[in-house]
Amino acid sequence: MQISKKMQEAFDEQINWEMWSANLYLQMAFWFRKEGWKGFAHWMYKQSAEETGHAMDMAEFVLNRGGHPNVGAIKAVPTEWSDPKAVFEATYKHEQQVTELINKLADVADAEKDRASINFIDRYIDEQVQEEQTALDILNLFLHRDDHAVALIDDKLATRE
Ligand code: FEO
Repeated sequence: MQISKKMQEAFDEQINWEMWSANLYLQMAFWFRKEGWKGFAHWMYKQSAEETGHAMDMAEFVLNRGGHPNVGAIKAVPTEWSDPKAVFEATYKHEQQVTELINKLADVADAEKDRASINFIDRYIDEQVQEEQTALDILNLFLHRDDHAVALIDDKLATRE
């Protein structure tokens, strides 16, 4: 079954948000590099690539359903944060917003009775549970730590595959 116009437009919006997320994490990586935090920057580069992967995956799905995905104009992302902890607070908050967006995308698929899209989006509902938990786990590492401990967290994140 070819994807409906409504469903494709909903995917376009999500693809645009995934690319915004990729830019957000890329900008966070640049900020960390500028501030001398190489491990955090490494983690953010990986996170940015993962978000680009989400956009590509969604676009591929739309294409496989006979649609024509559109990225659209991507809004500018923030460029400054006060410290590493603030960056991960923003990351956690952002992933919570993405969860809401994915839930809305699922609502459209339900309304359209589009079984293939419902099935596809389910993976992202699971993915968001993981994304939120990962951000929260890192944020928790910052609690009650002094700067020396933050440097250890920086080292730890440098090992991301
Ligand atoms: Fe593509 Fe981090 O959600």
